[in-house]
Amino acid sequence: MASIVIVGTQWGDEGKGKIVDFLAEHADTIVRFQGGNNAGHTVVVKDEQLILHIIPSGVLHPKKRCIIGNGVIIDPKELLIEIELLKSKGYLQDDGCLSISERAHVIMPYHKRIDIAREALKAGEQIGTTGRGIGPTYEDKAGRVGIRLVDLLEKDSFKKKLESNLKEKNTYLVSFLKEEKLKFEDIYNEYLDMGMKMREYVSDTSLIMNQDIKEGKNVLFEGAQGTFLDVDHGTYPFVTSSNTVAAQACIGAGIGPTMIDKVVGISKAYTTRVGGGPFPAELHDETGRFLRKQGDEYGATTGRPRRCGWFDAVMVRHAVRINGIERLVITKLDVLKGLDKIRICVGYDCNGEVCSEMPSSMKRLEACEPIHEEMEGWSSDMSHVREYDDLPDNAKRYIKRIEELVEARVIMVSVGSRRDETIVLENPFSN
Ligand code: IMP
Repeated sequence: MASIVIVGTQWGDEGKGKIVDFLAEHADTIVRFQGGNNAGHTVVVKDEQLILHIIPSGVLHPKKRCIIGNGVIIDPKELLIEIELLKSKGYLQDDGCLSISERAHVIMPYHKRIDIAREALKAGEQIGTTGRGIGPTYEDKAGRVGIRLVDLLEKDSFKKKLESNLKEKNTYLVSFLKEEKLKFEDIYNEYLDMGMKMREYVSDTSLIMNQDIKEGKNVLFEGAQGTFLDVDHGTYPFVTSSNTVAAQACIGAGIGPTMIDKVVGISKAYTTRVGGGPFPAELHDETGRFLRKQGDEYGATTGRPRRCGWFDAVMVRHAVRINGIERLVITKLDVLKGLDKIRICVGYDCNGEVCSEMPSSMKRLEACEPIHEEMEGWSSDMSHVREYDDLPDNAKRYIKRIEELVEARVIMVSVGSRRDETIVLENPFSN
């Protein structure tokens, strides 16, 4: 029995979806604990690609319990579309398999409108949000004016909250953002109706989770985004608006810290980022374009091309520390095939000063130039490799060096997008 948190160690898009899907086979319960439909977890099952935005990737395994915790924010329209899509493909046949926290906050139409309009106003200084209303929804949560799923099930309290929110949001939308007003009657009935449609899934998920853990079930916590998009620990303000680190699994699911057994970090074999903000190891040259093409590096949610760069060991070591990671999974190692030389960023040169930790100041981080270590590449295909020892020697050297630099043990290596294209050195649920 174990409770394991999966967390991204970079700027998201590390391939967590595939690893969660892979480990879900050994889990009884799979839980999302933060973020919203800004996430896009790509999973390939029997050559069919599925992108999940809200529902945990565990849903692709029959009879697993999937939980959306209180730390997640929910766009009801998108959630209902995702449920329908999954059902139409033969998944989620048993509604009892999905539980959503009644405490989860709801993304409302004004949140999306504000998110998009604000970004448009910031010409040249955009965060590059996904436009899903994530920031404004978490703002309302912290500001104690948010609407929770439980409110959609109580007509009167929803009416009161929506009226009061609309008064304030409309003033802001019209006077400051120069947007159109939103009408109460356009929102109220539609959201009540969606609340009714979601009703059967909504419950106090903390009770279910704690019971599952007490009964000795295997629980997998599926982090979304990545450590450097965390609102406290990331490259602020170029971050998302939730805590994405492992500790958030407790808060966003309603369990105590003593319930977590292991934290597994996921790192792509190189680095990518979507949206604005400093990225010291970014490659603006042919190699960057090679990584984007070979790795199909386009946002799963917005389709935007991802910025690509070498593996940044400074970042990942920082993530190992912040999350308490002991075990690491390296994804997309196959993408590096064909490069003569491979580099790892091992430090930064910040205005002539050598920096071995990530600066908090974005001005300093922006000024950082990567200090590289160079290694030999490999040219043989590895998508068929299932045993670590069968990897090309230079690939093994690369992994070994990453382990030394980031101070964590590699337990799995992903060599392709399919479930079976995975090398397992240690299954975290098996010991
Ligand atoms: P937001 O979460 O939509 O507010 O976007 C804030 C920043 O986080 C932007 O740079 C987004 O591109 C980034 N972001 C949000 N979700 C993801 C994700 O799942 N993967 C990668 N980047 C993300």
